[in-house]
Amino acid sequence: MTYEETAVSQTIDRLLSDRHDLDAAADGVLDNLDQFHIGGAGAVELLIPTLALAHGDVVLDVGSGFGGPARQIARRTGNHVMGIDITPSYVDAARDLTARAGLGDLVQFHAGDITDFPLDPAFDAALTMHVQMNVRDKTTWFRHIAERLTPGARLAVWEVCQPHRADLPWPMPWSLDGTDSFLVSADTLLACVKEAGFATVEWTNESTWVQDWITKTFANGLPAGPALPMLLDDGYTRVINYATALADGSLEIWRGCFTKNADQD
Ligand SMILES: C[S@@+](CC[C@H](N)C(=O)[O-])C[C@H]1O[C@@H](n2cnc3c(N)ncnc32)[C@H](O)[C@@H]1O
Repeated sequence: MTYEETAVSQTIDRLLSDRHDLDAAADGVLDNLDQFHIGGAGAVELLIPTLALAHGDVVLDVGSGFGGPARQIARRTGNHVMGIDITPSYVDAARDLTARAGLGDLVQFHAGDITDFPLDPAFDAALTMHVQMNVRDKTTWFRHIAERLTPGARLAVWEVCQPHRADLPWPMPWSLDGTDSFLVSADTLLACVKEAGFATVEWTNESTWVQDWITKTFANGLPAGPALPMLLDDGYTRVINYATALADGSLEIWRGCFTKNADQD
């Protein structure tokens, strides 16, 4: 199984104690470490305006990982963000990094599945980045997200799609051996989100943007630490395999913005 690293907080402590020159609380300093998706902080910047947040809106981040996107949204907008994630050690790390960043009043995390999370009060917006690849029944999963949103709420997604069946080089960031990977095409994913009770605002293939981001980010080789692959089992192989599959077109990245249908409970 993937996501079995149990000592993430300890690894982060060690990496940061080696870098006294870094102010880990400063905006952007840990972007190479705590953004667990292709496109890093730049991808989150693409999603933020699509959430159309108003003052006081509360945001749900489903599959929040180490909390980089949640903290970035809170920093940029001042809105409260609740992250939920099924991996307890990742939630512990997200909480530790949030405390270091002094954002504990705005950003909280819940360890568990979306189905464990209360239906009330409903959230005003949601995002999910690089999570649905691990979910077999995508329509039901997006329906659980819809149930926790107010009517008309925005949902932003940043997702990996597979345009055609092809063998992939495992391990990938979301799966060590492919047994817990459930990739679908962009058309199929869009159909699942709509069937779950969302209307489409935008559904855009961002694969070219991602290639540009990869070229810029890795122009001088792999970024110096602390960096995400240092937190993950077989981290560098997973990142290199992923970049290879994106470059040869085996995988695509799609960005979506949706609104929850008014008649959806
Ligand atoms: C590739 S990481 C993305 C993390 C975060 N969204 C980001 O972009 O930085 C995938 C995350 O999804 C979580 N995850 C996988 N399946 C999940 C599920 N059914 N519900 C909630 N979280 C899940 C994993 O624990 C992991 O933290």
